[in-house]
Amino acid sequence: NFKVNISVDQHLQHFQLSDEVLVDVALKFRQEMDRGLCRDTNPTAAVKMLPTFVRSTPDGTEQGEFLALDLGGSNFRVLLVKVKGNGEQKVEMENQIYEIPEQIMRGNGTELFDHIVDCLANFVEKMGIKEKKLPLGFTFSFPCQQTKLDESVLLSWTKSFHASGVEGKDVVGLLRKAIKKRGDFDIDILAVINDTVGTMMTCGYDDQHCEIGLIVGTGTNACYMEQMRNIELLDGDEGRMCVNTEWGAFGDDGALEHLRTDIDREIDAGSLNPGKQLFEKMISGMYMGELVRLILVRMAKEKLLFQGKTTAELLTTGSFSTAYIYDIENDKDEEALASAEKVLRGLGLDPSVEDCISTQRVCQIVSTRAAHLCAATLVAILRQIRDNKGAEKLRTTIGVDGSVYKNHPEFSRRLHKMVRRLVPDCDVRFLQSQVGSGKGAAMVTAVAYRLAAQHAE
Ligand code: GLC
Repeated sequence: NFKVNISVDQHLQHFQLSDEVLVDVALKFRQEMDRGLCRDTNPTAAVKMLPTFVRSTPDGTEQGEFLALDLGGSNFRVLLVKVKGNGEQKVEMENQIYEIPEQIMRGNGTELFDHIVDCLANFVEKMGIKEKKLPLGFTFSFPCQQTKLDESVLLSWTKSFHASGVEGKDVVGLLRKAIKKRGDFDIDILAVINDTVGTMMTCGYDDQHCEIGLIVGTGTNACYMEQMRNIELLDGDEGRMCVNTEWGAFGDDGALEHLRTDIDREIDAGSLNPGKQLFEKMISGMYMGELVRLILVRMAKEKLLFQGKTTAELLTTGSFSTAYIYDIENDKDEEALASAEKVLRGLGLDPSVEDCISTQRVCQIVSTRAAHLCAATLVAILRQIRDNKGAEKLRTTIGVDGSVYKNHPEFSRRLHKMVRRLVPDCDVRFLQSQVGSGKGAAMVTAVAYRLAAQHAE
């Protein structure tokens, strides 16, 4: 195994990042955060540092029935969340996953929002709450410019969405219009939030120290509680507000060129959004399997694998699903190699044992790089929070969600380990969100609802 892996390691040298390189990535990202926060540099900053208008985590007194929509992850969900508010912070949920066909994701915006509203209508009908006009929170996991909690202009689609006529528009307006058009039920849309914010809020309900939300799923991104005085784009210096970093766009201005490999460039060139989300494309679930596939193709062509043979399946974009990596990196080596063999046979190849070992090594290298890059940017956020507090030792919690974080057998361990190695002076707790970011939207809505009720009194 050792010999086989040495040749893969040599071939993939550029994918293996030393601690020094990661420290440098953390420093660079901290500068990018600054550029995004400052009024003068924000317009040209790659990392947008978007204000979310979420100013606090739930205090436990919230109560009521709320609807939530969750769009932009691996599933589209509609949820009904009942927040009891009495003592034990009890929350009950019903939820339903709906399909969004690919032609709708990439069709036109009107069709997309009509479809979302049709699913919502189906859900309220089924739950018997069609007449209720409940408050709704919308988890919309894309970069948005917000001016208040319930106004959110899509800056650009990311991941696999590409519907026309939505960029530059307020998604709350589009949703309201589609509901009105149907005309058979009404909803009170109170909040739009990013999935990172939803995750932070969900975890914040259980752990008061939670002030960072992290997603490593189809895409990758993080948010955190920033001091108002550092958010130059907004008036007011008091208190804190959650900032959605949109770190997936890190490197879109060239800041990561020294780390990007030919394979990264190839993925980008063939993507829906070339030149955009370059950091995300090195990390997240939407691209991880494809990174592995492109490496295997190259190595086969250089006669380092499969006796130099490729197959039509191996040469097909998307044929190496990210979920394969989870099986191939199983901690039981025998099962892992059996998985590798099965996957490669499924692609029409006839792999030797060495081919299976090499494929496993390729998966390890690609997913480790992803975990370590996430660690580096997280470290920058941890330092920012620590400096804001003037604390010597920071004790904090990171709420985490996303398919890669949850399903990859080693990702979370590698991420935690590297974060702790790079900031030994922070006491960091990682808290996995149990129920996804939809509940967070309901929590934000519940808070907004409570505050609105207080104002009305
Ligand atoms: C993409 C989106 C971002 C989201 C992340 C995780 O990076 O731009 O808004 O948080 O994916 O879903």
